[in-house]
Amino acid sequence: MGNKVTTAIFPVAGMGTRFLPATKSVPKEIMTLVDRPLIQYAIDEARAAGITEFIFVTSRGKGALEDYFDLAPNLEEELRSKGKDALLEVLHKTNMDSGDIAYIRQHKALGLGHAVWCARRLIGDRPFAVILPDDVISAEKPCLQQMVEAYEETGGNMVAAMEVAPERTSSYGILDVEKEDGNLLHIKGMVEKPKAEESPSNLAVIGRYILSPSVLKNLDHVKKGAGGEIQLTDAIAAELDQGRKVYGYRFAGQRFDCGSKSGFLQATVSYGLARPELRDDLAAYLKDIVPGLG
Ligand code: G1P
Repeated sequence: MGNKVTTAIFPVAGMGTRFLPATKSVPKEIMTLVDRPLIQYAIDEARAAGITEFIFVTSRGKGALEDYFDLAPNLEEELRSKGKDALLEVLHKTNMDSGDIAYIRQHKALGLGHAVWCARRLIGDRPFAVILPDDVISAEKPCLQQMVEAYEETGGNMVAAMEVAPERTSSYGILDVEKEDGNLLHIKGMVEKPKAEESPSNLAVIGRYILSPSVLKNLDHVKKGAGGEIQLTDAIAAELDQGRKVYGYRFAGQRFDCGSKSGFLQATVSYGLARPELRDDLAAYLKDIVPGLG
């Protein structure tokens, strides 16, 4: 049913004010979990899902992101001359072939919907994925891959979905569910950041989307929504009014909100413990400082 999804948009224009002063000079997407920047986790997940074209929606001050995906000839030469082949290999895995990656500027911070809309001319008439690098998802099968497999059966539009605490609905896009079919949720409505008492459910949209190009057309028209911003949620909700399908997908995996300090620290601990070379030291340290742990 659904066409193959080969392009992903990475909205990376946000200022990252929650991480000031670090983000004064370092884009938040370059902040590292263990030794890899957040953006690398997002790219690896996209590649695993079959994505071959990467579109970054950036803003002023994000030059370090472009450099990150460029070749580093001096560094490579240095490593080669010292015979550091393992590190060279690590470096090579971050390279992108010329033409696989494109950068578009979002000139004004008008919201996530606007950021995605900025990439419209590069998308054309194909379905596309959107990955929000702040949402880091640790999973045996990468989250977007799970969704692409489900989407091959359903077509339409698909968003990653997860239950959140009822008092947290005002931080998320929230789904109004018509019926559940295993991991697949048939959606009849979506609201961006509703108050707990007005929320249709506690099923939240997490930052992975597979969208039909008609969402970009909707973004031509959607009015400012929650927080005075152009919301992607509103453009997807419009698909329902136009008789097209939207599905939620309850992914298997653990999501970390790396847009928050607490989520970022939790992810650091979790990804640290997942590294065989770090696990024992880190676990011993945690047991030492947290009474009663383990
Ligand atoms: C964005 C989306 C929201 C979604 C969230 C997931 O919000 O607008 O619908 O639930 O990402 O992380 P933001 O976190 O950028 O405010």
